[in-house]
Amino acid sequence: MGTQSQHNTTFSPETLELVKRIIARYPEGKQKSALLPVLHLAQAEFGGWLSTETMDYVASLLDIKPIEVYEVATFYTMFNLKPVGKCVLEVCRTGPCALRGSDDIIEHLQKKLNIRDGETSADGMFTLMTVECLASCGTAPVMQVGDHYIENLSCESLDEILDRLRAQHEQKAS
Ligand code: FES
Repeated sequence: MGTQSQHNTTFSPETLELVKRIIARYPEGKQKSALLPVLHLAQAEFGGWLSTETMDYVASLLDIKPIEVYEVATFYTMFNLKPVGKCVLEVCRTGPCALRGSDDIIEHLQKKLNIRDGETSADGMFTLMTVECLASCGTAPVMQVGDHYIENLSCESLDEILDRLRAQHEQKAS
């Protein structure tokens, strides 16, 4: 799913079909229960983040008030409320990862990409986010990129990982 103009917030027909199927899982009048999965679809389809316009669109689809969507979207850290890069690097900074060098990983990424926590690289490719335990402490230090975990990170392996991620996204775009 690619980036779409935020001025034309409408799901693709395929995604709309999926949204209808998700809503149909719940009893009549309980369509708000579909909010989390629909927000995930919206974030994936509209450029990796949820604008106010996108959240309003989701509210209209579920026939609920926009504030009910804002409340949920602002509560969960997995929803981005401002634009992000094509690739979001979520680096764990909790105890076990910290003991195994996550501070060095974060510093290396900050220097290499010339960004700070929460910022996006100038080429729009990478956003760095530090997060709490990703529940993979046994393979610390860990970062999550989309649906994947990259484990046993080292500063030496990071450059190659970034090159690989960049190549994957360029391949997807071509
Ligand atoms: Fe990093 Fe648990 S502390 S995955």
